[in-house]
Amino acid sequence: MVFASAPGKLILFGEHAVVFGEPALSVAVNLRTRLETSPSEKTTVNGRPLERGDFPYLDAGIRRSGFGRPLSMLIDSHIPEASGMGSSAAVTVALLASLQALQGSFDKESIARIGFEVEHEVQGRASPVDTTTATQGGGILLLKERGENFLWRIEKGESVWNLHACSLPELTLVVGSTGIEAATGPLVARVKALAKGKEKARAAIRRIGEITLEGLASLKRGDFSLVGNLMRENHALLNALGVGHPMLDAFVDAALPHSYGAKLTGAGGGGSMIALTDNAQRVVEAIQGRGGRAFVVTAEPRGVVVGDEV
Ligand code: PMV
Repeated sequence: MVFASAPGKLILFGEHAVVFGEPALSVAVNLRTRLETSPSEKTTVNGRPLERGDFPYLDAGIRRSGFGRPLSMLIDSHIPEASGMGSSAAVTVALLASLQALQGSFDKESIARIGFEVEHEVQGRASPVDTTTATQGGGILLLKERGENFLWRIEKGESVWNLHACSLPELTLVVGSTGIEAATGPLVARVKALAKGKEKARAAIRRIGEITLEGLASLKRGDFSLVGNLMRENHALLNALGVGHPMLDAFVDAALPHSYGAKLTGAGGGGSMIALTDNAQRVVEAIQGRGGRAFVVTAEPRGVVVGDEV
């Protein structure tokens, strides 16, 4: 029997644009998915037979890992599903680490690579941001070029991502969840269709890439006011790309008087927003006042972990 866990993540800047190869900045957070895996007579998830289509990430992960025997998997997840917090990446990465451990190995780079292929297959298109963050933990920076603290390079079709570990200052982030589950694949496809037809959409994607780099530089300088302005601009551009939701706008508006900035995070279309603040309680109350579920998260340095202490 093997225990593994992997963290959820928040994208601070760059979601959607990163699928087109633009920079993005994410951070692992202190909510994890835990998985208990053991060889078994037939393949089950939480005691029920794994039917095709029920858990596409697990299906694809088992197939791509080449693990040939049936498995019993027990999932215990504290990451809200389909809410922009990387729950599918966390369960995928925890599974891949477990399957490696059952075969006597543990190699983060290959977990991140296969994890990306799984997400790409299930969603039809993806960037490696979620899977590398769940694997490595801490801050993760995706760049077109290779830079400092390089981890690995992942390519797909014409896209190339250089992934880097990135140290960030201490951040208090409030997550506001709409409770509306929106699958990532169709949202990514929507942005792709828009980018194909409209130069304005392509310009928005490029600007999001610039914002990511400006945002990172401001974070490193401790200029949270500028970080906040860039978060607002990033939010407006994501709305222009058609992945916003009125509830996300309402939560952002509610959070802003008590925050440096706020924006949707992850795929959008529902899902969640984040606010960067020194006044987490006020922000939580403001979002709750608009009918959202709100909670505070902190950065999580640990990526995927295998063993008893998961
Ligand atoms: O909402 P999530 O956790 O699936 O994050 C999606 C992030 C996107 O940039 C929209 C897609 C991707 O694969 O990078």
